[in-house]
Amino acid sequence: MIKKQLTSEIEIYDDISELDKDTQELMKKSLEARKKAYAPYSHFLVGAALLLDNEEVVLGSNQENASYPSGLCAERTAIYWAGANYPENKILKIAISASSVKKKNDQPIPPCGACRQAIAEYEQKQNHPIEIYFMGLEGKVVKVSSLADILPLAFENKYLEL
Ligand code: THU
Repeated sequence: MIKKQLTSEIEIYDDISELDKDTQELMKKSLEARKKAYAPYSHFLVGAALLLDNEEVVLGSNQENASYPSGLCAERTAIYWAGANYPENKILKIAISASSVKKKNDQPIPPCGACRQAIAEYEQKQNHPIEIYFMGLEGKVVKVSSLADILPLAFENKYLEL
């Protein structure tokens, strides 16, 4: 038996103003996108803004459904739209902001496991890391340089190949 340690690094910024200008703009767009969430059941609004290598920005917000599992997270709403409309472009960064309408939140909210899996697929497809930035409604921002850093031991398509 051997033991292996899986390590990853995150960067924590005190607030959005510590980010470089472009990333600040992207996070502001995510905060705007968050306001368009359709979340009548959870009252938890999430915004995502993706920067593509052609400088286009793709926005998404969570879209809920009376049949709860039919809803979709902000990150996947955005990334699938990018995949469908810009299949040849690389996704460089994703900025995510999230907070309940009932309780103001200043904790950085990381993407859920299902969204990590979805983002991982595109990172592998484009063979280029995707930077992830996430925050609450205000306050600290966490950055990871690659989705892989927050999804160790990911299930990948290579396991499907015979
Ligand atoms: N949600 C997201 O949009 N992204 C995540 O990464 C986690 C959760 C949404 C799904 C649902 O509409 C609401 O937040 C509460 O879970």
